[in-house]
Amino acid sequence: MQRSKISIIGAGNVGATCAHWAAAKELGDIVLLDIPDKEGVAKGKALDLACCGPIERFDSNVIGTSDYKDIADSEVVVITAGLPRKPGMSRDDLIETNVKIVRSVSEKVAEFAPDSKVIVVSNPLDAMVYTAWKATGFPTNRVMGQAGALDVARYRAFLAMELGCSIEDISALLLGGHGDDMVPLPRLTSVHGVPITDMLPEATITACVDRAKVGGGEIVKLMGTSAFYAPASGTIQMVEAIVRDKKRIIPSAVYCDKEFGVGGGFVGVPALLGTNGVERVVEFKLTADEQKLFDESAQHVRDLVDVVKKMFPDLA
Ligand code: NAI
Ligand code: 2OP
Repeated sequence: MQRSKISIIGAGNVGATCAHWAAAKELGDIVLLDIPDKEGVAKGKALDLACCGPIERFDSNVIGTSDYKDIADSEVVVITAGLPRKPGMSRDDLIETNVKIVRSVSEKVAEFAPDSKVIVVSNPLDAMVYTAWKATGFPTNRVMGQAGALDVARYRAFLAMELGCSIEDISALLLGGHGDDMVPLPRLTSVHGVPITDMLPEATITACVDRAKVGGGEIVKLMGTSAFYAPASGTIQMVEAIVRDKKRIIPSAVYCDKEFGVGGGFVGVPALLGTNGVERVVEFKLTADEQKLFDESAQHVRDLVDVVKKMFPDLA
């Protein structure tokens, strides 16, 4: 069987850590691409990682490059190119710089890896997914964004810390854009089916929900730049679902038509991921309160997409 090829654009913190997780899980051959000025960094990180193979026992080829020809025949392309936020910045503050980067990268992806599935990670996430969709011209099943996998992992981690139990036993769901108005769903959070609301006081659950919402900011404050281990881990969970055709249901920024009342646009919802990319949006009924929070989050995403359209009217 031919190995999958996974290309990662941007060899910075998130990109290189994606390469690390993908190699450790032996998901396929890996291409780490950065701008020509950083080609040495991409090559150096790729070589360093390749030398873990004999210890970690993976046979993935890992190469660094600045040449888009190397991404040809990729099954999945992950876009992490762009600025991360610094303390005091919101994800939305990155839009003007990152929309230009994500647009130019997406055009190259469409040219050199026209059959790939694209996972966008660059922020502000949901607006960058829209940008990549328009700039690649790919069908909606082949363009998605990583945010929910990370956000729900943070939510589960904080709950496990409170419960003192394994994170493996906590099942949770989360909707909405990748912003502080994301919508964790305590009603649908359980420990082996036992509702979390029966296990923790309301105030503790609210504290975990609130901490998940600003979890990215908490880390930026601590280390001066944005998180990368968990974001990369969430991204590779999506890559694995696709290259191994696992049909996993992972909260992801995907195109919703009528689902959850979105009416056309990319926003975080549970999506079934497999070899065809986004194979299905998994819709279910929200309570009136949940729908209201989701609508507010989706409106925030629409406002950001309007900024993209204003900057690049041809992407409207
Ligand atoms: P970083 O600064 O460590 O790496 C970014 C890399 O992109 C740099 O190596 C840079 O040279 C490269 N780059 C810039 N322009 C490029 C271009 N035109 N072509 C190819 N490469 C280019 O930043 P980090 O921490 O890796 O974050 C990357 C992005 O991911 C940021 O926008 C950040 O906000 C976002 N992010 C998103 C998360 C999510 O859950 N969706 C979580 C964490 C970060
Ligand atoms: C995060 O949530 C900044 O989006 C990035 O860590």
